[in-house]
Amino acid sequence: MSVWAVLAAAGSGDRLGADRPKAFVRLGDRPLLGESLERLEASDWIDAIVIAAPPGWEEPAILLAEELGCGKVSACVAGGVTRGESVRLALAEVPDDAAAVLVHDAARPLLDDAVVERVVTALNEGWDGAVPVLPVSDTVKRVDGERVIETLDRNGLRTVQTPQAFVAQVLRDACQGDVSEASDCASLVEARGGRVKAVEGDPRLLKVTDPADLDRIAAML
Ligand code: C5P
Repeated sequence: MSVWAVLAAAGSGDRLGADRPKAFVRLGDRPLLGESLERLEASDWIDAIVIAAPPGWEEPAILLAEELGCGKVSACVAGGVTRGESVRLALAEVPDDAAAVLVHDAARPLLDDAVVERVVTALNEGWDGAVPVLPVSDTVKRVDGERVIETLDRNGLRTVQTPQAFVAQVLRDACQGDVSEASDCASLVEARGGRVKAVEGDPRLLKVTDPADLDRIAAML
């Protein structure tokens, strides 16, 4: 089974307040993008990689891949206005004979191969897709402005991470319609009745959103 990785790295990262897009802020001694790129390259589960780079940053992304010896990188496209659009644009570079696609956010640099294994092997069990999840430890409430409306039963709730893996054709079909509101790919597959397995996530797969996240993650490298 050939597995292609789509690396969503086209976000602006406004909340970081940096002078460059999030994928190119420094984590340790190199751009954030380099961390997940190198880990996907090293994974025996992944055959090829397509990067969705911030528009205008395709060349630096390709140079970084070359510097890191990431020979699996097959294409680098300019991403879209939303994450969903970036994934759809990258997916267009995945060949028709690819069996599965793994979508990962460059904003989650600490990618462990065990998570890749869990989501990809779920496809061999017959699932349409698989997502890494974590239990919710806080109490979760729905609010309307300042007013608390209700308290949700956290037993049935999970937070969801990337990488997310899908049967390639299932993801292509799911990306046909309006993808602009989707915060992850699995939601598009679920909306079409696809069966998505929740597998064990990884607490280290933190997402870089603000500068404090970068410090926290750099300390875990
Ligand atoms: O903005 P946020 O952190 O939620 O984005 C999640 C991931 O999606 C990031 O890795 C970001 O680079 C990517 N993204 C993208 N194209 C966009 C917006 C976000 O590839 N237009």
